[in-house]
Amino acid sequence: MSDIASEIKRRRTFAIISHPDAGKTTLTEKFLLYGGAINLAGSVKGKATARHAVSDWMEIEKERGISVTSSVLQFEYDGYCINILDTPGHQDFSEDTYRTLMAADSAVMVIDASKGVEAQTRKLFKVCVMRHIPIFTFINKMDRDAMDTFDLLDDIEKELGIATCPVNWPIGSGKGFKGVYDRNKQCVICYSDTEKGTKEGIATEIPVSDEALLRSTIGDEAADKLFEELELLDGAGAEFDLDVVQKGDLTPVCFGSALTNFGVEIFLKHFLNMATDPLPRIAEGKEINPLDEDFSAFVFKIQANMNKAHRDRVAFIRICSGRYDAQAEVRHVQGNKVMRLSQPQQIMADERKILSEAYAGDIIGVFDPGIFSIGDTLCAPKKNFKYEGIPTFAPEHFARVRQLDTMKRKQFVKGIEQIAQEGAIQIFQEFNTGLEEIIVGVVGILQFDVLKYRLENEYNVEIKLENLPYEHIRWIENHQDFDVAKLQGTSDMKKVKDMKGNPLLLFINAWSVGMTVDRNKGLILTEFSKN
Ligand code: G4P
Repeated sequence: MSDIASEIKRRRTFAIISHPDAGKTTLTEKFLLYGGAINLAGSVKGKATARHAVSDWMEIEKERGISVTSSVLQFEYDGYCINILDTPGHQDFSEDTYRTLMAADSAVMVIDASKGVEAQTRKLFKVCVMRHIPIFTFINKMDRDAMDTFDLLDDIEKELGIATCPVNWPIGSGKGFKGVYDRNKQCVICYSDTEKGTKEGIATEIPVSDEALLRSTIGDEAADKLFEELELLDGAGAEFDLDVVQKGDLTPVCFGSALTNFGVEIFLKHFLNMATDPLPRIAEGKEINPLDEDFSAFVFKIQANMNKAHRDRVAFIRICSGRYDAQAEVRHVQGNKVMRLSQPQQIMADERKILSEAYAGDIIGVFDPGIFSIGDTLCAPKKNFKYEGIPTFAPEHFARVRQLDTMKRKQFVKGIEQIAQEGAIQIFQEFNTGLEEIIVGVVGILQFDVLKYRLENEYNVEIKLENLPYEHIRWIENHQDFDVAKLQGTSDMKKVKDMKGNPLLLFINAWSVGMTVDRNKGLILTEFSKN
């Protein structure tokens, strides 16, 4: 294997998805601990401080102590080079969060054992399903009282429609948490709390064949329950099948506690073994082999205004094939230009490192003088192809935008269009009237504040946002077949068009979507726009 190929083969690029507070930050921190990227738990992403440290690019982040943008971390472990893409939660959830998943090859799903599947996990999960990427589940907080294990697995299967295959099985939870049974090794790994320390201590392992020792260690009651559950599990659980895992139809499940550092390393090892190396991406109907020596990449995120004085932007790119050499020129396909990327860097939790090279699977940030758009392709100068675009995801909150000083129309339109081009917001017009009325759609409500703040600070335009009650948006996949003006909708439906003139429908109620489809034979509505 060439050096380039072996570098690429050892890359694993994954996103962590979870509902806020399930323990994503804590788990990430423990991963970094194993990778030697940090020495002591709490030093990188202690919550309150880290939210500042991750990126203080925008004032609004500082003011609110949250990170608006998702960040990337790279570390080495056991011969693997791992890229973790963080997906921001809470109100800072945005379309970027979805796009981040387009840059990953697998996902780690963190679930709080006392809560099961929660809203945000469900949303992010949908994008993973669309991409058929493998999903590895870590059921966290077993040191707290948890839901029944079978119920938890059932919840994942029912809520998310993915089969589960437990890699290990918990013995009790909360104060009665004794450890996990490793189904592969057929032994019980006893619970130990190493929260304060560095790495997981040497855990005591008891083979289940040594029943006497097991009973004396975990107690009769826990042992009886374990034997009973294992019998049930062997009869009921899905068979492990790596092919099915890699297609995203079966999720291996591990139980543990990120905070007390139990079960984290086992999970890391398991999923690194099962996760794929960089997956091929499609360009013009053809798969581009990641091991191809020629560099190629696509832009999946644009982060504006990292340095206010320069109004600069950073484009985040996912390398899809070959090796990136910072000295070499690349072709920006959409811009039809051969150029050298400037200031290539890896954006770490609290620092930015200038890079000289990177490989397929890696995520890098490059300076963007305002020429890149989301979905653009970069490739070796001798090549010329475009990767499939990144879908536009359905916003869930809408507002009408009014500018307060009508004399500043030009700045207003320029500002709002530029911010929309970066992908932070989507803008729509009234179906019949056009630009006078602008409707903004966002995935997370914080983006409204970001919009207002940026228009005021960067473009000197004051706006007023008037919230609209719509919650569901649908693109009309086959709009050529319909006279949209005559569409039979529901009374809560509103017709709008995007900046490219594509018609869309907004609904207040979810059931109106189905009703509209019923009323208009052959109408196909979608939640994503493939552009
Ligand atoms: P997030 O990134 O998914 O939002 O979650 P995060 O890791 O920040 O964890 C949310 C809270 O849950 C934190 O407590 C964290 O310490 C706690 N936590 C994470 N994993 C476990 C676990 O395995 N067991 C228990 N018992 N708690 C866990 P916090 O009080 O909100 O924050 P902090 O003050 O501890 O940082």
